[in-house]
Amino acid sequence: MITFDGVTKRYPDGTVAVDGLDLQIPAGRITVLVGPSGCGKTTTLRMINRMVEPSAGTVRIDGRDVREIDPPTLRRGIGYVIQQAGLFPHRTVVDNIATVPFLLGRPKKEARRQARELMERVGLDEAMADRYPAQLSGGQQQRVGVARALAADPPILLMDEPFSAVDPIVRRGLQDEFLRLQAELEKTIVFVTHDIDEAVRLGHRIAVFRVGGALVQYATPEELLAEPAGDFVRDFLGGERGIRRLRFFHELDAEEAADR
Ligand SMILES: Nc1ncnc2c1ncn2[C@@H]1O[C@H](COP(=O)(O)OP(=O)(O)O)[C@@H](O)[C@H]1O
Ligand SMILES: [Mg+2]
Repeated sequence: MITFDGVTKRYPDGTVAVDGLDLQIPAGRITVLVGPSGCGKTTTLRMINRMVEPSAGTVRIDGRDVREIDPPTLRRGIGYVIQQAGLFPHRTVVDNIATVPFLLGRPKKEARRQARELMERVGLDEAMADRYPAQLSGGQQQRVGVARALAADPPILLMDEPFSAVDPIVRRGLQDEFLRLQAELEKTIVFVTHDIDEAVRLGHRIAVFRVGGALVQYATPEELLAEPAGDFVRDFLGGERGIRRLRFFHELDAEEAADR
């Protein structure tokens, strides 16, 4: 469990990015932070792995104040995936994935073998192993980014708009694959997006933020759609809320039917 307790981030120029945040993020689930650009999602995420330090309040992981853990140790247990995948252009796919195991001093052969296994898990053909990032599509690059974040088998994964730069059809495929993977892995995932549809598809719980870094609602997707807390959330869900809601429950029905 990741806990935010009265967390505020004020940048040196006075911008309050996150304002008095109280939030409990459950272990083994996908929690989505959603809201418009500039509402403090990335800042919130980065306070978990200490890329950003809070101005006030405490972030804890399983009860332990993250300030007690030195950043390299902390980050070894926390995978991080960003929008443009952030791959090393001059390393092959397999070596990009094995970056952290290499750093940890694992034998290269062993690290590469494991990287190839991860490629399969994230749906990448092994023929891609020796390519360079520029020789992959955007969707494939994002898969490499996810595989790399998983390579050290961290219990926590922070994902900052990982699928936002790819087109809707590819995004949908990545989301499906990601849900399948998470069903096996049961990581504690904090997933940032500005896309409410993505939030509803992926989130076990959804935290809706507004600009100024205020958390306006924290709820399951069902609760959020059925009872948006006020006009801001209602507007953010948009005019298509009814349609979206139907589609969401449709998918649930289809999944339950498939389970039977
Ligand atoms: N390093 C920084 N210095 C000053 N202001 C920043 C910095 N990083 C982010 N901000 C500001 O903090 C607010 C929240 O930013 P961010 O957390 O990136 O939001 P989001 O990820 O939701 O778009 C914005 O107003 C942004 O301009
Ligand atoms: Mg951001």
